[in-house]
Amino acid sequence: VEVVRSVDEVRRRRRSSRSRDQRVGLVPTMGFLHEGHLSLVRRAHELADEVWVSIFVNPTQFGLHEDLERYPRDLDRDLALLEGERTDVVFAPPVEEMYPRPAGVRVSFPGLDDVLEGACRPGHFAGVGLVVAKLLHLAEPEVAVFGQKDAQQAVLIRRMVEDLDFPVRVEVAPTLREPDGLAMSSRNVYLSAEERSAAPALYRGLTRAAAAVADGERDPARVEALLAETVASEARLELEYARCVDRETLATPGEISGPVLIVVAARAGRTRLIDNIPVTPGDAGRR
Ligand code: PAF
Repeated sequence: VEVVRSVDEVRRRRRSSRSRDQRVGLVPTMGFLHEGHLSLVRRAHELADEVWVSIFVNPTQFGLHEDLERYPRDLDRDLALLEGERTDVVFAPPVEEMYPRPAGVRVSFPGLDDVLEGACRPGHFAGVGLVVAKLLHLAEPEVAVFGQKDAQQAVLIRRMVEDLDFPVRVEVAPTLREPDGLAMSSRNVYLSAEERSAAPALYRGLTRAAAAVADGERDPARVEALLAETVASEARLELEYARCVDRETLATPGEISGPVLIVVAARAGRTRLIDNIPVTPGDAGRR
């Protein structure tokens, strides 16, 4: 795997792929990779000739009191995993390369970035939008692959790409789960044994809520109550939100008549956990 550190190098490398007619699939990550990330890499291989992975713990998407400093990092391990997945290029820039000065541009998503995760993490999506816009400009991939786990992020990135005519296909790949249902996440390493055993309640609540929709429940409030009740049954989890929202507008529908996203966030000690299931009434719940 070829490791590229600078903006100049990444642009040079892109010109070289283009001269060889290689379609690039980019998987943006913050590193400390797990199977979920590797499944995105595999999806990128299906859609492109060369697979590029960016590894950058983006400071602009962390709030002042969040876990930027302690966010897990292990570049050597990540590179070994990516080597095993036949990754062509890893773009792992230092912070000064991405932000030589504070950005004078702000990416905002009116009505979409101050709800759900955006309400709990003010400014988070401005940072995500900024870094993803930069990564897409630098790597100019034909396809960019993101995980369904960060559902709101995927909705906002799609919107940015469509509204600003970025020439890239956004692909969203399903969430990978541990055998007990816990969604894979780099932050799962923070969990104590007790928190880890409580954490699958999020997915249990989501599947219970999705099953209710599949059985004909059309009232979002009742779906949300089932989810909230399941999470509340674990004393170690502190629910932040349990919502059933429209899959594009992220607003709560009057009644469930089209595709919705059932989303949940909870704290287990100092760790935030998020998860979701997209559901279409009439279908069985799917991940
Ligand atoms: O999903 C993530 O890991 C990050 O939010 C992303 C998309 C790499 C931007 O920093």
